[in-house]
Amino acid sequence: MSTGKSVLGVVLLGAAAMFCLSFEQSPSSQEGKWVAPAWTDTLKNPFVGNAAAIERGKESYDLYCWSCHGKKGRGDGAAGASFPIPPADLHAPEVRGQTDGALYWKLTTGRGNMTPYGDLLTEEQRWELVAYIRVLSNDEGE
Ligand code: HEC
Repeated sequence: MSTGKSVLGVVLLGAAAMFCLSFEQSPSSQEGKWVAPAWTDTLKNPFVGNAAAIERGKESYDLYCWSCHGKKGRGDGAAGASFPIPPADLHAPEVRGQTDGALYWKLTTGRGNMTPYGDLLTEEQRWELVAYIRVLSNDEGE
C-alpha cells in the first residue's frame, strides 16, 4: 500500500515537473507577444553612438538580417514573406520602445523563424547590430 502511494507520488511529481517545464518554455513558443525578460533591460550596449561599430553593424545586417527584415528594416524581406509570424518591422514603436538589452536578448535567443544568433555571431557583433538597428529605424532623423 505504501509502495503504491510512493509510486503514485513519483508519477504525480513527474507530471508536475513536465507541466513546469512546458510552462517555462511558453515565452519562447510561437504564440502571443514576444517579451524579453525584465533583467535584459539592465544590459548596456557598449557601442551607443560609436560610428565605427555602427558601420560594422550595418555590414552584419546586410549579410544576415535583410533577407527577412528588409534592407530598410521594414520587415518586408522576401525570405520572410510566408512566415506565420512575419519578421518584425524594426521601425515599429513596439520595437523601438524596447531597451537595447531586450533587442540584444531577442536576437541572441531567437524565436520561431527568428534565428537565434547567440552561437552564430560574437557578443560584439550582436551589440553592433543593435546599435545599427537604432540608426536604421530612426525615422525622425535625430
Ligand atoms: C529567417 C528570417 C529572419 C532572419 C534572417 C532574421 N530575423 Fe529577426 N525576426 C524574424 C521573425 C520571423 C521575427 C518575429 C519573431 C516573433 O515575434 O516570434 C523576428 C524578430 C526580430 C526581432 C524582435 C523584434 C520584436 O518584435 O521585438 C529583432 C530585434 C530581430 N528580429 C532582429 C534581427 C537581426 C538583427 C537579424 C540579423 C542578425 C535578424 N533579425 C535576422 C525573422 C528573421
